[in-house]
Amino acid sequence: LYLVWGAFVALLGGLVSGLFAAIFGLIDYTTIRADHRAKKTATRHMIFNVTALALFGVSAALRSTALDAIRAGLLPFALSAIGVALLAYGGFLGGHLVYSDGIAVGRHRRQTPLPRSTITIVATEQLFIPVADAHLLGEGETLRVDINGTILVIARVGAEAYAFQEYCTHRYGPLSEGALKNCEVICPWHGSRFDLRTGKVTAGPAKVDLHTFRTEIRDGKIWVEAPK
Ligand code: FES
Repeated sequence: LYLVWGAFVALLGGLVSGLFAAIFGLIDYTTIRADHRAKKTATRHMIFNVTALALFGVSAALRSTALDAIRAGLLPFALSAIGVALLAYGGFLGGHLVYSDGIAVGRHRRQTPLPRSTITIVATEQLFIPVADAHLLGEGETLRVDINGTILVIARVGAEAYAFQEYCTHRYGPLSEGALKNCEVICPWHGSRFDLRTGKVTAGPAKVDLHTFRTEIRDGKIWVEAPK
């Protein structure tokens, strides 16, 4: 009887903590760019975990009707067992999201909205390329732009826009998700800082400067120098 009660209480505890974890998971989910390869993994992670929670919920409801039994019924036991298997796979995907894709790492450091997608521009002979309407880039915000396969960040500080390579020179952290402070971008992963005007490292762990690109704001558009 104690075991039946113990299992029931443990199940309720898991349900409550799972629901709390889901809130934070959902917040992280909304910050992933639509075209980020991790978005699909995150969707699967969410489906597995939510299904597991639903199965645990049904199992707990069934168990609550027979708490004076000597042992749990076969159906609630089977539901819980399937839930554990789904949760294990969901956890594996969660580890992949954090350790391989850097999801949920450092995004809290950025107060302004993250880029929702990547602006893709294909080959052009122009020296300067119009990438977006200037009003789309608010103070402290960034755009992520792919020009012929080179991915850049356009960042707005005051009246100026700055362009530089997307991937941090330390471990390839996504600088379009970094915070902008005092004309510097701070890598969201390990906090390296780079001067937006020159690309120079102002604080490690990165040791190699960023490649920067000239920009202009004219005719209501942001123009950027085409990468070579
Ligand atoms: S990846 Fe940017 S500081 Fe490590």
